[in-house]
Amino acid sequence: MRPSVLITKRIFPEAVELLRQHFDVEYHDTDDGLPAEELLRRVKGKQAVVAQLTDKFTPEVIAQLDGVKIIANVAVGYDNIDVPAATRAGILVSNTPDVLTDTTADLAFALILATARRLFEANKFLMEGKWNKWAIDLLVGQDVHHQTLGIIGLGRIGRAVARRGRGFQMRILYSDARRAPEEVEQELGAVYVPLEDLLRESDIVSIHTPLTESTRHLIGTEQLRLMKPTAILVNTSRGPVVDEAALVEALRNRTIWGAGLDVFENEPKVHPGLLELPNAVLVPHIGSATVATRLKMCMLAAENVSAALQGRKPPTLVNPEVWSRSESRQDAEG
Ligand code: GLV
Repeated sequence: MRPSVLITKRIFPEAVELLRQHFDVEYHDTDDGLPAEELLRRVKGKQAVVAQLTDKFTPEVIAQLDGVKIIANVAVGYDNIDVPAATRAGILVSNTPDVLTDTTADLAFALILATARRLFEANKFLMEGKWNKWAIDLLVGQDVHHQTLGIIGLGRIGRAVARRGRGFQMRILYSDARRAPEEVEQELGAVYVPLEDLLRESDIVSIHTPLTESTRHLIGTEQLRLMKPTAILVNTSRGPVVDEAALVEALRNRTIWGAGLDVFENEPKVHPGLLELPNAVLVPHIGSATVATRLKMCMLAAENVSAALQGRKPPTLVNPEVWSRSESRQDAEG
């Protein structure tokens, strides 16, 4: 019998085809996620799940995934999956790193530029027919070039944003739970500083940290107060890293100058306060949304599933220890 795979939401058809070549596929071909109960009903008898960031794999859900070998998330972030619970249950978890690094960094930089130069506001002004004369201070913004860029989280995407910042001759600061290797710091010209110093000194702060219990609300009232009144905050990581209510206050009071946000605390809901602010540039979680990159993400998730179900090590595992454990068990049995 062929192994079976559940795909919880619509993905690119090429990836569905790849999976159908080897497996029986139950494809929930819509953009509405499956509520936990429905997911658990459909996952019965399946050996793999292709999931998206809106699918919540809590310890309770994971405890009921009998026979599932792998959850393949079509995203680099995997805060929707309780990985320790999956690991305990012997379930592999994979994500889609690397293929989206530059695309997401491009969007972070687009938000930096759009916020600094008030692009959305300017576009609205023109489209609404309000442009009837040239004025010396019409829609004046902030410079990006030669400014200080503070990167919170110098992982793959943070580094790609730093490289873009170098192209704009920016001074690069970064903070992270761990200091990057010296050669990385040298390549990027990035200086490791405590978060408080980064917030005080940066003209633009860009967030690239995963969402974990220690990064939830990493940026709140106190941190926003440390920033310059001319500073811009950009978030393309996960919404809950920023206390959204505190950010609304800071933007309203001009504690900071502007924010460019791709991610929100309660997606797809956006804090109503943000919607009223001209200095908030808001886009609907499109960091990796190019045709080429989304296709690569779907294909990588399908490859992770194929490998796991065909006895090969999936290329991008989040919990490789589960694989090593099963390998050593097989060796012992063999
Ligand atoms: C998108 O947010 C991702 O994690 O890939």
